[in-house]
Amino acid sequence: MKFNRLTGNIGAEVFDFQLCEISDSSFSEVAELLWEHQVLVFRRQEMTASDHVALGRRFGELHWHPNFPGIDEHPEVLAISNWGKDKTITEVWHSDVSCDDEPPSVSILRAIHLPSYGGDTMWSNQYAAWDSLSESMQRMIAPLRAVHENYDIRSSHPVARTHPETGRKALYVNDGFTRHFEGMSVAESRPLLRYLVDVGSSLDLTMRHSWQPGDVVMWDNRCVMHFAIHDYGDAQRDMHRVTVRGEKPV
Ligand code: SIN
Repeated sequence: MKFNRLTGNIGAEVFDFQLCEISDSSFSEVAELLWEHQVLVFRRQEMTASDHVALGRRFGELHWHPNFPGIDEHPEVLAISNWGKDKTITEVWHSDVSCDDEPPSVSILRAIHLPSYGGDTMWSNQYAAWDSLSESMQRMIAPLRAVHENYDIRSSHPVARTHPETGRKALYVNDGFTRHFEGMSVAESRPLLRYLVDVGSSLDLTMRHSWQPGDVVMWDNRCVMHFAIHDYGDAQRDMHRVTVRGEKPV
């Protein structure tokens, strides 16, 4: 499989590969590349909604969004459209549906209709965020758990989680869902939470993707946060997302 790293800390682009033709052995290669680089970009894909679902199922059982219905033919496919800048829920650093008890592992996003400019997405490496903290800070926050909440769902997860495939530790707090540390008030939690999400979104840990027709990007929510930039006004932007059910973070 031909690929290039996209930045010093996160992401790779895979070349000359059609995900709709993926075999068992090439799937293993894709999965290994994803665990290593956290985000994979595939351009010029000839993928249908059924191919998209089939690809997601290779990673495991699919996750159904608790709040938004899927598309008619494939209820497991979440349609993400331009809901307006004041209503968007994705223009914030987040890990998909981290309020779930077993939050999604892999997300696979397919461009359906793109604005003529803007609408980029950013991802940030949360292994590198954890590694960048001092040993004293790591020791202090390692025992902490944080409450993640939204859509009337509330779960408590470790602030640093261990990835089940790589065994690496990643910071696991975000602006979209994390409300406070367990046993502390929102006000008590705010300064440290702010600091950790700021560390986790340091520019040198990020990559930014400018979408083109035919693009498919997959990422591992267990070790990245992402942020969808809403800079395209009322223009049409339609994306389809298939999300794989993950495990309880430990
Ligand atoms: C998401 O947050 O899963 C969607 C990202 C995007 O629309 O670019």
